Amino acid sequence: MILGSPLTPSSTKVMLLGSGELGKEVIIALQRFGVEVIAVDRYENAPGQQVAHRAYTIDMTDAAVLKALITKEKPHLIVPEIEALNTDVLAEIEREGLATVIPTVKAVQLTMNREGIRRLAAEELKLPVSPYAFARSSAELQASIDAGIGYPCFIKPTMSSSGKGQSRVTEKSQVQAAWDYAATGGRVNLGVVIVEGQIDFDYEITLLTVRAKNAAGETQTYFCEPIGHVQKSGDYVESWQPQVMAPNALKNAQHIAKAITDALGGLGLFGVELFVKGDQVWFSEVSPRPHDTGMVTMCSQRLSEFELHARAILGLPVDVSMTKPGASAVIYGGIESNNLKYDGLEAALNIPDSDVRLFGKPQSFVKRRMGVALATGKDTDEARERAKLAASLVKPQD
Ligand SMILES: Nc1ncnc2c1ncn2[C@@H]1O[C@H](COP(=O)(O)OP(=O)(O)O)[C@@H](O)[C@H]1O
Ligand SMILES: [Mg+2]
Repeated sequence: MILGSPLTPSSTKVMLLGSGELGKEVIIALQRFGVEVIAVDRYENAPGQQVAHRAYTIDMTDAAVLKALITKEKPHLIVPEIEALNTDVLAEIEREGLATVIPTVKAVQLTMNREGIRRLAAEELKLPVSPYAFARSSAELQASIDAGIGYPCFIKPTMSSSGKGQSRVTEKSQVQAAWDYAATGGRVNLGVVIVEGQIDFDYEITLLTVRAKNAAGETQTYFCEPIGHVQKSGDYVESWQPQVMAPNALKNAQHIAKAITDALGGLGLFGVELFVKGDQVWFSEVSPRPHDTGMVTMCSQRLSEFELHARAILGLPVDVSMTKPGASAVIYGGIESNNLKYDGLEAALNIPDSDVRLFGKPQSFVKRRMGVALATGKDTDEARERAKLAASLVKPQD
């Protein structure tokens, strides 16, 4: 692998499509290798745009606009960070050999739609998943539940993330409202929802899985230590590493992660979400990119998930080793503001072995993730206490 110098004719150029807090860290990791980075987002001054060589604000679902920008910038690699993209353009770019899409166009297309990834995992790869059905009307939804999915169940738009449009339903009277919420809460209203039977898991994990080149130049699969997390209304609030697992459960988890990431292909880091009960493991979903729960790796691993992604996509060697038990806790905006200030950082950073990342988002909402507190400890209990305390001490104000 040969890297160029940024802003010269030799430069190695990477374009991020989506430049939120996760993209920002990938960009910083790329910058450290002297890569020329172009950050694209749907709004001005997105976190990643603030640390890139150039920034553009466009509607990435608009085929003509997206194609024109890629043709103008001619990046070597295109790194999608969000799912709301026109992927037909990415397929065209790949076909024409203009750029490599990370990890692959197929991976980006399948994972942006719950139907695509679910059918691949369950029907093609025969991986264990929750009982599921797709419904195109509330009547069809009710019929699928009655036909065997039962209660409690989860109803989700096929195109959504971070719990948007998602409900947990425990009885018949709630089904219509869940249909309405899913049909309007998705990113693109396809009029299709997925209903999943609830898995009664002991705990859930993200298994960060990296496809990177080894010393022989072949693509190899590497697994980080499992990350445990807590989700509230489908959104992550806290994560820690390592999540202790029974040896057979870990074996099953790695088997599933290998199967799904092999099928998606390409180079890069993936966040494989799994449910675990005893030795039994179910596949839930996968991000073909760094995962929000993986922010803990900024304190717990030698190389964070962002540095691992940057290295993997550049064809460079990775090291997935964990250095210390760690935890992350989300800092929410708590208020609506276009002029947010953060108080309490002294107190937060006086917590032993703690750190704070403020994403620099220009606009705050009550439930918008504005930052994250990180901490290590002698074990994950101590790390979690420290991270939660540090997060609670950061006081956003107008
Ligand atoms: N079938 C299920 N059984 C049990 N819990 C579920 C199920 N589906 C979703 N959940 C819970 O909701 C969270 C978010 O669901 P997920 O499918 O990952 O949506 P998103 O794409 O918005 O992250 C999961 O991490 C899990 O805690
Ligand atoms: Mg998820």
